[in-house]
Amino acid sequence: MTKEKRIGILTSGGDCAGLNAVIRAVVNGASQKGWKVFGIHNGTEGLTEKPLSYEELTVHNFSDTPWPRLSGSYLGSLNKGVKMEALSEMSRRFGEGVRELGLDAVIVVGGDGSMNITGNYCKGAGIKMIGIPKTIDNDTPITEFSVGFNSACQVCTTAIDSLELTARSHQRALICEVMGRDAGHLAMQSALAGQADVCLVPEIPYKIDNIIKKLKEIKASGRNHAVIVVSEGIKTEDGEHISGAKNMIGEAVYGGVGQYLSSEINIRYKDFQTRVTTLGHIQRSGTPSMFDRYLAAIFGAKAIELLANDETNKMVIWKDGHVQAISIEEVVKKGTTLLDTHSDCVKAAQALGMYIGEIK
Ligand code: F6P
Repeated sequence: MTKEKRIGILTSGGDCAGLNAVIRAVVNGASQKGWKVFGIHNGTEGLTEKPLSYEELTVHNFSDTPWPRLSGSYLGSLNKGVKMEALSEMSRRFGEGVRELGLDAVIVVGGDGSMNITGNYCKGAGIKMIGIPKTIDNDTPITEFSVGFNSACQVCTTAIDSLELTARSHQRALICEVMGRDAGHLAMQSALAGQADVCLVPEIPYKIDNIIKKLKEIKASGRNHAVIVVSEGIKTEDGEHISGAKNMIGEAVYGGVGQYLSSEINIRYKDFQTRVTTLGHIQRSGTPSMFDRYLAAIFGAKAIELLANDETNKMVIWKDGHVQAISIEEVVKKGTTLLDTHSDCVKAAQALGMYIGEIK
């Protein structure tokens, strides 16, 4: 018989659709085994700040409510990062919180940054951890999909579809700026699904003259409008990041490059008017898609299985059509997964005639 366990679960980093479905899967799986689950509030803060902030979760929190069908995080999340010099102090406080609550292990639902930070806390404090990948950026290493990405792609695709209709009415080239930080997965996959004409991603340099060439080709073909998808992480043509804004620990906050592109196109080309739509945080709060809920269920169940077998300090992943687990250390070592410029997705975009920059 498995010993009764006390498990903590927290959501860390930017929220996304599907987090509550993950929490539900963990709570239901754990309660089948007679374990107790404690939901930690506001990312790691619920354990590092005094008094601790948490609640015991039971199946009733999720079976009797619509939470698993909603985006956002029932527990709250934290997207502040942590300064290197504060790491060991935070790890000590985290360890203290875990011990005060008597937890056997902590499940962290987060992206690559959260795996790195909480992986460090847990290693430093000797705490067992399981990671579940989530991010709309889909840049968590090794796993092919993270919870939240598919739902965000759906939001972007729906937006591109809508923009195409109004672009058609007004003879415009409409620019849709999407999130993703330094990775172009969200931009490229939704541009492909939404049949955009141009898609710019951080991984591929571009030339404004070649965007205009594409717009001229569209015009010459008899079409009077276009849709351009741009990832927030692209640089200017000269290789500069547009936004000078910084977060609380000095990391760049992206956003605004769509406007730069719009002005640059308009200066050189007058046949289509340009306008910009920046999708912003609504990309993180669409209805959790079927695939994200499916992934949430599978990842949650796998996390419980790993804990039951005492296989910890691992992150669950989706690879080659299966759920698997790899060490957190390996995840951290790999860093962020950027868009492979030779992937099927990129090849398809090129094959469909989309301008995606200057691919070598
Ligand atoms: O990592 C997820 C993400 O939504 C990025 O795509 C985006 O750049 C960032 O978070 C925005 O973070 P914040 O909510 O802190 O502005």
